Amino acid sequence: MPKTDSSRLIVLGVSGGIAAYKAAELVRLLTDRGYQVQVVMTKAAQRFIGALTFASLSGRKVITDLFEDNTSPTGESAIEHIAVAQQADLLLIAPATADVIAKFTHGLADDFLTTMHLAYDGPIVIAPAMNSNMWAHPATQENIAQLRARGATIIDPDAGELACGMVGPGRLAEPERIANAAERALLAESPGARDLASETVLVTAGPTCEPLDPVRFLSNRSSGRMGYALAEEARSRGARVILVSGPVVLAPPRDCELVSVETAAQMHQAVLDHLSDATVFVSVAAVADYRPRTVAALKLKKQTASLTLELEPTPDILQEVGRLKGNRTIVGFAAETNDVVEYARAKLTAKNCDLIVANPVGADAAGTGFGSSQNQGWLVERSGEAVALPPMAKREMASRILDRVAELRRKVESSVTAR
Ligand code: C5P
Repeated sequence: MPKTDSSRLIVLGVSGGIAAYKAAELVRLLTDRGYQVQVVMTKAAQRFIGALTFASLSGRKVITDLFEDNTSPTGESAIEHIAVAQQADLLLIAPATADVIAKFTHGLADDFLTTMHLAYDGPIVIAPAMNSNMWAHPATQENIAQLRARGATIIDPDAGELACGMVGPGRLAEPERIANAAERALLAESPGARDLASETVLVTAGPTCEPLDPVRFLSNRSSGRMGYALAEEARSRGARVILVSGPVVLAPPRDCELVSVETAAQMHQAVLDHLSDATVFVSVAAVADYRPRTVAALKLKKQTASLTLELEPTPDILQEVGRLKGNRTIVGFAAETNDVVEYARAKLTAKNCDLIVANPVGADAAGTGFGSSQNQGWLVERSGEAVALPPMAKREMASRILDRVAELRRKVESSVTAR
């Protein structure tokens, strides 16, 4: 029987670095989300933070020594590392020093954590933290590449001011980001991870480019990252994914059917061509609302007088899919500078969507939204309810959106079979 969250065990390895204190917050986040956390500390970690802090937060005795158990009053055996390795659902290392990373890579086993690592064969998530030169060193980078190649998830360190006074990459990722990655790694192992296996998800992503002449076009700042994250997440949850993408610089997501387009008219046609296969439509693309009424066959020459462009509306793809809805689940996006949720509610009704992801753009949304790797906003429901989505990685937001889509699909399927 699959384990519930409350019985899933995360072994959190804490190695020695100034960032070890952040692991305390991580334990709190993981236990709040319902996971059991067994902390294992290296010797060096114990110089930065006391085991008692972790014991109090996790409600479990912290493992600090490979051989302590012989004399343990609780009577655990000296082969506890094997037992812990067998019970663990996830091995998470945060912070991971260059030393632990090197030991993992080369299979050293000179303390509890590294010994347990060899005895363990489940998912591994590693959040490195170190001085930027140590991080950039080819030895560390080669070790990281090897661990990745073996299937470990590496949470790249953040850039910023480091404890040593240097500025650059090396700072431990924020605990929230680590907790999210840990949760995703656990989810990928669970049967529920393929909750979209019977769906075909059609996603539009990126900007459209509307030509003025052979060399110029009108476009917008969309990077395509949110749509690509959704496509990747849907695929990893078992869906067949058709991604209709405007021009972007991103690598095509693995195992998705990519249809590359440039203009709104081409995107419109591509969506209509694939709509009959789709059970879910997610409209992330920043489709141009207007295009030049005429496209010059030759390059427009510079002139001294001002130039007036006449624009005409493009087809509203989402609205049209809304009209053809049937049993499909439809998700729209709404980027607004003001009254974000109100506009999103109106859009949901006008375009016959099941969900609208409302994103604030402009001054209020610094560091998120267009072009950024993060996003934030609200998930607006047909009922009008709006669930806040705090700033998070776009892949994480994709996972939150698809959690809700999967629930809505289950409802559609049960109402279809009930008939
Ligand atoms: O009305 P507005 O452009 O703000 O709506 C945004 C939503 O509509 C997004 O989901 C976007 O992908 C979709 N859209 C579309 N075709 C258009 C304009 C917007 O599919 N021409």
